[in-house]
Amino acid sequence: MRLDKYICRCTELSRSEAKKLLKQGLIKVNGEIEKDPGAQVYEESDVRLDGRQLSFAKARYIMLHKPMDCICSNVDELYPSVLHLLEIDRAFDLHIAGRLDADTTGLVLVTDDGQWSHRITSPKKLCAKRYRVQTSKPIPESAIERFKDGVQLQNEKNLTKPAILEILAEKEALLTITEGKYHQVKRMFAAIGNRVVDLHREQIGEIELDPDLGLGEWRYLTEQEIASV
Ligand code: URA
Repeated sequence: MRLDKYICRCTELSRSEAKKLLKQGLIKVNGEIEKDPGAQVYEESDVRLDGRQLSFAKARYIMLHKPMDCICSNVDELYPSVLHLLEIDRAFDLHIAGRLDADTTGLVLVTDDGQWSHRITSPKKLCAKRYRVQTSKPIPESAIERFKDGVQLQNEKNLTKPAILEILAEKEALLTITEGKYHQVKRMFAAIGNRVVDLHREQIGEIELDPDLGLGEWRYLTEQEIASV
């Protein structure tokens, strides 16, 4: 990584402030003054600012119980971003691994590790997501087979990938899908003539929403949860 970027990652400094300090000869890399902002440094490099060793911030991994009326975006729109719920430094440097609609509640994973989130969101990885769905009309047994075979969503070229539907009550079910198309669950139920009235995500891959987290609460993931992705 470039030295100026490294300094920004380890401090509150902007890129131009980091460059200024470099110019002043205040940065040492492995014991030598380094003035080139483009010099390459590595996680294990000893980088010091005015004698103080900078430590590379470790990636952060968070689960959040998303309430209604906030959005999975880094910018506020009609609703505020879910990132406001994280009362931590630089919350807006994080990104959301798999969005939920403003009116959907449940498990949201937040990180600054792009490779990790790619394994959740890439369509090629087929990461399973489980939703608890309440519908306006009774869910027929035939829906199990239809979702398994794939349904045609409007304005999509291909059928949806095989999904697992478990009917829990007349108008309640668990649906596990491995895709993340726009409004996918709502559109799947619309495709079989029903309407989702309440949607809640319970699980992503092997990571389940912690039942101790109330709406709007969050915690860091455990090492085991991080490694499961
Ligand atoms: N499918 C939807 O329709 N909405 C969501 O928020 C997530 C999946």
